[in-house]
Amino acid sequence: MQIGLVGSGNMARAMARGWGEPVLCTAARPERARALAADLGGEAVASNAELARRADVVVLAHKPAQLAAVAAEVAPHARLIASVLGGTALAELRAAYPGARVHRFMPSTPVAVRAGVVAHAAGPDDDPGVLALFARLGTLVTVRDDQIDAAAGLMGCAPAYWALLVEAQVDAGVRAGIPAEQAGAMVVQTMAGSAALLQADGPDTLAMRRAVASPGGSTARGLAALERAGVRAAFSDAMDAVLGR
Ligand SMILES: NC(=O)c1ccc[n+]([C@@H]2O[C@H](COP(=O)([O-])OP(=O)(O)OC[C@H]3O[C@@H](n4cnc5c(N)ncnc54)[C@H](OP(=O)(O)O)[C@@H]3O)[C@@H](O)[C@H]2O)c1
Repeated sequence: MQIGLVGSGNMARAMARGWGEPVLCTAARPERARALAADLGGEAVASNAELARRADVVVLAHKPAQLAAVAAEVAPHARLIASVLGGTALAELRAAYPGARVHRFMPSTPVAVRAGVVAHAAGPDDDPGVLALFARLGTLVTVRDDQIDAAAGLMGCAPAYWALLVEAQVDAGVRAGIPAEQAGAMVVQTMAGSAALLQADGPDTLAMRRAVASPGGSTARGLAALERAGVRAAFSDAMDAVLGR
């Protein structure tokens, strides 16, 4: 299935790296598309219309505000559309591409190493080949279209959240006397290992906390400090901020 990427920015690059096969791509500035094709394999094409004529599936990886302008070029030629545009409902996409089978996904940047989450909005046009293509990028989770924005708050934004948390923990380690490189190795592997344990044993987070925090011990004191600092409220506020509440 020939992939055509409209847009050659951060998310287009992450997906192209994850797919690991030659893509067709465009960008507002042609040099950006040429750079993606040179770095990751494939070909920068001259126009969105040419891309739509040559690709089996057109992946919309531009900004949401460009939906109408891009559709004017792509819609006459495209059969399969896969959008990763933030905040753009399936109904809007179907209105912009009335003659195509339209899919809506919300990926996260770890798709670059095939360890992303891809939220998928269940829709009437769902094509098994397109779903399989995105499932190659990590874990595909199908939700309702009206749940995609909340899903984005959980998984689309979260690589930035985890990066911030890693930074904060590394800084705390440095303050306690551990060199940054060693602190970074410990924090990142602990994050990966904790995720692997939750995946292996099931998502019982209370059991995981109890297994580390002995009564009256140092972990219990650390957890209490995090609760006092408002870690739960911070994540709840972050979701509200993402949803524009
Ligand atoms: N970044 C994430 O983690 C993430 C996660 C989930 C979903 N998304 C969604 O993915 C989309 C892209 O986000 P991004 O972070 O990758 O943004 P980005 O880095 O700004 O990339 C946007 C790309 O679109 C290109 N573009 C603009 N107008 C175009 C046109 N008319 N035809 C073809 N290409 C055009 C830009 O060209 P130039 O390079 O020349 O400017 C750029 O390559 C957004 O809709 C966003 O909501 C992003």
